[in-house]
Amino acid sequence: MSGLFKNAVNISHQVIAAVVEAGDIVVDATCGRGHDTIFLAQLVGEKGKVYAFDIQGIAIETTWELLQANKTLENVVLIKDNHSNLDSYIPQRIKACMFNLGYLPGGDHSIKTDKVNTLKALEKATKMLDNNGVITIVFYPGHSGGQEELNSMMVYLSELSQKDFEVSHVEFINQINDPPQITIVQKVLGGSK
Ligand SMILES: C[S@@+](CC[C@H](N)C(=O)[O-])C[C@H]1O[C@@H](n2cnc3c(N)ncnc32)[C@H](O)[C@@H]1O
Repeated sequence: MSGLFKNAVNISHQVIAAVVEAGDIVVDATCGRGHDTIFLAQLVGEKGKVYAFDIQGIAIETTWELLQANKTLENVVLIKDNHSNLDSYIPQRIKACMFNLGYLPGGDHSIKTDKVNTLKALEKATKMLDNNGVITIVFYPGHSGGQEELNSMMVYLSELSQKDFEVSHVEFINQINDPPQITIVQKVLGGSK
């Protein structure tokens, strides 16, 4: 039996589903195997758009195959580039941005997100966020370098103005082996632009 939240990735999907609507513009900052990308594509529908990034060709190909098999390719832009460049590809404001950090499951574990690029991407996504829009960040403190990445992002996230952003963080404090944690950033309606 599992509880209401289950795990950090599941929370990210619950949050995104509560905010994102058909026709929205959204971002998957780390598409990996494509599970978050297809979830976003189905939420925004054919009138919306998903910009999905990954630095690895294998991740872009796997995501393409998943989207193709589920006939959800049309409204997805797959981008093989560092998510720190996301503003070069997206002209509009965004309703959501999902960061599922770390390495590609079943792939090369040495290729993983890093605190410098994650911070750059996060700063840009925060600036591009629409009113009521959300950013979800799933952290893997149990992975090598994961706790350091989390600590760095906490410095930035904890200093965001509470007038403009609601920032919350969930961790499963009674689970073993440093389970994933999630931070949720929501742009507060009426906050300064
Ligand atoms: C945990 S996986 C993502 C899982 C994915 N969201 C899914 O649903 O399957 C993390 C991914 O981040 C990618 N990545 C690492 N650094 C990156 C960067 N700077 N820019 C974009 N993607 C990056 C990795 O290649 C890896 O595929």
